[in-house]
Amino acid sequence: MGHHTTKTLISAEDIETRITEIASELNSRFSNKELLVIGILNGSILFLADLIRKLKMPIKIDMVGISSYGNSTTSGQLEWTKELSESPANQNVLIVEDILETGKTLQAVIEHVQSFKPRQLYSCVLLSKKCEKTFPIKPEFECFEIGDEFVVGYGLDYAGNFRNLPYIGILEEKSESSHTSSELTGNDLMIRIQFWSFYRDLVESDSADVVVTEKTSLEDIKNLIGQTWPQLQDHMNSMLIAVNNDYYEMSHVPRDGDIISLFPPVQGG
Ligand code: IMP
Ligand code: MG
Repeated sequence: MGHHTTKTLISAEDIETRITEIASELNSRFSNKELLVIGILNGSILFLADLIRKLKMPIKIDMVGISSYGNSTTSGQLEWTKELSESPANQNVLIVEDILETGKTLQAVIEHVQSFKPRQLYSCVLLSKKCEKTFPIKPEFECFEIGDEFVVGYGLDYAGNFRNLPYIGILEEKSESSHTSSELTGNDLMIRIQFWSFYRDLVESDSADVVVTEKTSLEDIKNLIGQTWPQLQDHMNSMLIAVNNDYYEMSHVPRDGDIISLFPPVQGG
């Protein structure tokens, strides 16, 4: 098993700004008409929660569950996991989805909702991938168009993980280093690595999330960092490593959610 890191594609601030814009479009389109917002589980929950807080009309919420079989990064056969709780007949409906890839999922939900004969039906997606759309649907509201890359965070998952990241990141797969593969417990935990000073320029990022196993010591993590970011290799001997702002022995084993900060030694006076 390899581990994964993420690289920020859309920051939490940019997501917020764009949702504010989309919400004001929705506010003017629907003015004071009651809106039934139907979220598609599980990926849309963060987007839906942030979007509806900015809507001014009376709102009702329902959720529909659909997931696609396939491996972790490709969609396949659709499986319904939750039916709507109430009929959307005669209502103004907005379907909220996390990401449009082929369009298959959204198309299926639109057809399903349409069968109840809503008064009006619109859809709103957070992300739309620039790739071949097998199903020619065009959501009326779209926050961001992205490239054909696999993304996680802000509701989106990779094999169930990463949904809680506050930003949208591109998933990067790294090969497993030899010394940790023998220690795999199947009990993964996620730690955030924060880069400071010129390390940020070297790795072209402020931070990265890394999934490691429970038995990984700071020494192991340091080795992993050297392998993952070879551009830091020359600085490994002088690197200062803090866990949640405290210093520990290198045998210390970080816990899930810990923030590991990497600093160069202080230069000059
Ligand atoms: P579609 O049915 O091909 O349009 O794919 C849409 C569904 O696949 C979404 O509901 C997501 O659950 C999933 N999906 C597609 N691309 C990504 C991605 O980059 N990251 C995470 N999930 C994705
Ligand atoms: Mg989904």
